[in-house]
Amino acid sequence: MAKTVGILGSTGSIGTQTIDVVHSDPDSYRVVVLAAGSNVDQLVEQVEDVRPEFVTLADESKLDELASRIDSSVKIVSGPRALAEVAEIADVTINGVVGFAGLPATLACLQAGKRLGLANKESLIAAGPVAQKARRTQGAELIPVDSEHAAIHQCLGTAEQRRSISRLQITASGGPFRGKTIEELANVTVADALNHPTWSMGPKITVDSSTLMNKGLEVIEAHELFGAPAQEDQVGLGFDDIDVVVHPQSIVHSMVTFTDGSTIAQLSEPTMRLPIGYALAFPTRLPHPFGAVDWAEAHRLDFEPPDRAAFPCLELAFEAGRLGNCAPAWLSAANEVAVEAFLDERIRWSEIPQVIEMVMMSYEGSRADTLEEVLAGDAQARRLAESVIREKVTTC
Ligand SMILES: NC(=O)c1ccc[n+]([C@@H]2O[C@H](COP(=O)([O-])OP(=O)(O)OC[C@H]3O[C@@H](n4cnc5c(N)ncnc54)[C@H](OP(=O)(O)O)[C@@H]3O)[C@@H](O)[C@H]2O)c1
Repeated sequence: MAKTVGILGSTGSIGTQTIDVVHSDPDSYRVVVLAAGSNVDQLVEQVEDVRPEFVTLADESKLDELASRIDSSVKIVSGPRALAEVAEIADVTINGVVGFAGLPATLACLQAGKRLGLANKESLIAAGPVAQKARRTQGAELIPVDSEHAAIHQCLGTAEQRRSISRLQITASGGPFRGKTIEELANVTVADALNHPTWSMGPKITVDSSTLMNKGLEVIEAHELFGAPAQEDQVGLGFDDIDVVVHPQSIVHSMVTFTDGSTIAQLSEPTMRLPIGYALAFPTRLPHPFGAVDWAEAHRLDFEPPDRAAFPCLELAFEAGRLGNCAPAWLSAANEVAVEAFLDERIRWSEIPQVIEMVMMSYEGSRADTLEEVLAGDAQARRLAESVIREKVTTC
């Protein structure tokens, strides 16, 4: 029988690629849930295409329009818990919502004891301890969709072999500004930052890639997923055991090094369809390839260390990760606000890390053991970031 699939953030880059993957194997997968933010036109097209049973839209002002444009047999879920409610329905839910808004879905899916294919890294980063508790729910499974973490998941080996893992290497394309000096980076534009050399993604993660904050967030994500030895697939590694390696070709998606010196890597052309399919099919594999490397062609694989001085967001993320508690939630919230301000052209690209650093200086060790604490931390960091940005805008 076909596995049922929920797609949250269906109108975005991850969401649309998830629909492609489902279409590629219609006997194995059936979409039953679609959830989007505000793009009614695209959602209506998707409803006609995949014929889900449930649909929801975060922008409630557009629900009447949605209802008038889709078949009445499709149930529209509404209300403040709509995203969480639809995250509990399918056998496997792909969370491709952008930002902190994806948190209720991450928690609800795991607490319902279902499989979560997680692209929405921000929810795990902000609410690590709360999500860890949810992961212990019977039947709950978290399969990473972020390509680096999907790669590590594929390289871990058996439970016994995992005990011999000594380091994780997370690869980074380096983004559009790799090799640029601090002086050259002073006046880069929004268009420059959105011009990613190897990946086509939504605007927020593309800007995060340009600052290397995306890599910093992924280090925290890797620590949450594989670090603490509380879960079967976790290996007990700290932040000092996680390296970031710039690899401009984006063919090696990440690596695991074992105590005997052996390194295992996962390689494919850069496409998110492969990790999305991996999360749907695990522990089996899709029957057809996405992003298979043509080994008859010549390839270069280059690796270099990141420039931590030109891209300070990376170190800010390591620092927040080491602090733990609510610090990652503060970092991620301050980053979301700063990136939005940059995309709105209210601050310069080089001011993104400055805003985050100023916010983090006010962090006093608040805890993140409950959802309420995480929500309070997120809200406080956002207020601080907005006020830092207002000051910057009025003084320039
Ligand atoms: N794109 C990639 O290749 C990639 C790779 C690795 C990880 N990720 C992660 O995956 C997540 C999504 O990235 P993306 O690039 O796909 O972003 P994106 O293209 O901007 O899409 C974001 C999606 O989230 C929806 N959305 C926004 N706010 C929402 C809300 N409150 N409730 C429900 N849906 C909401 C948007 O809906 P509307 O369009 O209708 O507003 C859209 O469908 C991010 O966390 C990112 O870091 C992405």
